[in-house]
Amino acid sequence: NNQIDQESLNAYEFLTMFYHHLLVHANGAEEAKQYLEKRGLTEDVIKKFKIGFSPYQSDVTTTLLEKKSFRLNHLAHTGVLSETEDGKVLDRFRGRVVFPIRNHLGKTVGFGGRTITDEDPKYLNSPESKLFQKGNILYNFDYARSEMKKLNQAVLFEGYMDVITADQYGITNGVASLGTALTDHQAQLLKRYVDEVIVCYDGDKAGIEAAFKAAERLKKSGIGVRVASIPEGDDPDGYLKKNGREAFVHQILGQSATYMSFVLNYLKRQYDTSIEASRMQYIEVAIRYIATLVKPIERDHYVRELANEYDLSVDTILGEVESKRQQHT
Ligand code: GTP
Ligand code: MN
Ligand code: MN
Ligand code: MN
Ligand code: MN
Repeated sequence: NNQIDQESLNAYEFLTMFYHHLLVHANGAEEAKQYLEKRGLTEDVIKKFKIGFSPYQSDVTTTLLEKKSFRLNHLAHTGVLSETEDGKVLDRFRGRVVFPIRNHLGKTVGFGGRTITDEDPKYLNSPESKLFQKGNILYNFDYARSEMKKLNQAVLFEGYMDVITADQYGITNGVASLGTALTDHQAQLLKRYVDEVIVCYDGDKAGIEAAFKAAERLKKSGIGVRVASIPEGDDPDGYLKKNGREAFVHQILGQSATYMSFVLNYLKRQYDTSIEASRMQYIEVAIRYIATLVKPIERDHYVRELANEYDLSVDTILGEVESKRQQHT
């Protein structure tokens, strides 16, 4: 069941150090080390994020935990360890590179484990528990908090590899949701520290769709939103390693779109604007979105853009926008 208990917390803390120590020092971890090296992670960043390796032989972990007086059955119960159908307790991350997931207090409350041999699934996560609720945690929130506050801005990534690489390149206000859609709780968490979030998801269809949803969620929470666009097929991690910090800061973050311009672009792609009826549908939707803008000058800006784009009268569109607003108030 889902009890918060000190024993599980202690076990997570113990395993964090154990996996990390193993990666850094043990003979059996060469392959994992090479994997991380190949991915361009420095020793410093591996240390900072306490990245680790779980031994291939599952009973190494369980034997050690027992020796330290942890109760294996209890840890299986709370999700720290996994359990086979015939009741054998195992380390679920065996043979994987392990990323500790810290809560806002900096305590490990779960792990993400990545295969280094192209196994399926690519990532394994600790199961949900009272301690570990994916919807309530933002990866790296505890480290990023002070820089977020200082810059009054956060960068929201899709994956923890993106957050870690960004940190390595000096972008330390990055966080990520844990493989699920951004929740209201996570948006509220960000709102307490920053006025603006740059959504920086992967440059594929899934990433763009998820970015749209995250942007909507953030906007609803009253946070200023910009959306960065990563070249098709790449992600922030890959982009940074190929192009470096300067390019990322200027071409990606610096060129990020305003919320409205991203949304209009995103919506436009759902319609075939070469067909009149479909184009009209898009214009209707666009007007509805523009009408939600609070500042008249912003409404005016996007109205003009829309009017120019489709050779329509600015006054007519502005009239539509203003009447939509009246319906709302
Ligand atoms: P790399 O391939 O190591 O560079 O990881 P990535 O961060 O690019 O991963 P990807 O873009 O595929 O996914 C983003 C996030 O989704 C990851 O950080 C995970 O949290 C989650 N995720 C991806 N693949 C899986 C999976 O197979 N299982 C689960 N549970 N989560 C996944
Ligand atoms: Mn994936
Ligand atoms: Mn992806
Ligand atoms: Mn990715
Ligand atoms: Mn990646």
